[in-house]
Amino acid sequence: MSTLELEDVNGYYGNSHILYDLDLQVDQNEVVALLGRNGAGKTTTLRSITGTIPRREGRIEFRGENIADDSVDEISNKRVKLVPEERRIFPTLTVHENLLLSRDSCKGTEPRDVEEMYDIFPILDDLRENNGRNLSGGEQQMLSVARALVQNPDLLLLDEPTEGLAPVIVDDLEEILEDIVSEDVTVLITEQNVEFALELSERAYIIESGENAWDGTIDELRDREDLLEKYLSVGVEE
Ligand SMILES: Nc1ncnc2c1ncn2[C@@H]1O[C@H](COP(=O)(O)OP(=O)(O)OP(=O)(O)O)[C@@H](O)[C@H]1O
Ligand SMILES: [Mg+2]
Repeated sequence: MSTLELEDVNGYYGNSHILYDLDLQVDQNEVVALLGRNGAGKTTTLRSITGTIPRREGRIEFRGENIADDSVDEISNKRVKLVPEERRIFPTLTVHENLLLSRDSCKGTEPRDVEEMYDIFPILDDLRENNGRNLSGGEQQMLSVARALVQNPDLLLLDEPTEGLAPVIVDDLEEILEDIVSEDVTVLITEQNVEFALELSERAYIIESGENAWDGTIDELRDREDLLEKYLSVGVEE
């Protein structure tokens, strides 16, 4: 049984039909990349899983249970957590307060210890009393991931975690995420930074205009420069 299985998922914003019969599967403890150009529907796919899209149809199974009709809170309580593209740090709260708030709003399972987050993200330990608004983009991203992680996710959805980050921070984040995924967490990650996604993942899905375009292993994808050019307009370093 897969941890997550999407079957014939259609997604809509008002009258705009965005996702078309999307299929996707993530097994337990797997890291899967969801790739595609700007506007391909990556964020919308993650929102269809968390229930934050206005309307979705089709089958979305989490641990064998259909969650397609569940509310946003019900899905979150099942330990499905999204780190959104826009990070949504509380600017007037400190790093520590941001983490405490996230810990205290955790339902459906025991949260993790906030101190554990400082072990995983040492950069945040030094910034405990800093306000969210004073953090760099990289620090905000670390905090955003830590806020999701403190809620003890079973399935972690990461929406373009490297967007706008300096290369040195991207390297730090990669190391941290590698540690996280070696724990008992299943991950679906969207990225424009294909190299980053390929480093972390075992398999990938490429979507184009809200439809499945390709899926397979990362090793297969690395040999398919045609796909990378066609759907992602990138070359991948060896
Ligand atoms: N709130 C919205 N209302 C209407 N259309 C939307 C909304 N959000 C996104 N869209 C449209 O849905 C399509 C898919 O957008 P989505 O944000 O899922 O793409 P994406 O793959 O995440 O792109 P990006 O790489 O830019 O983040 C795009 O055509 C976009 O314009
Ligand atoms: Mg997006």
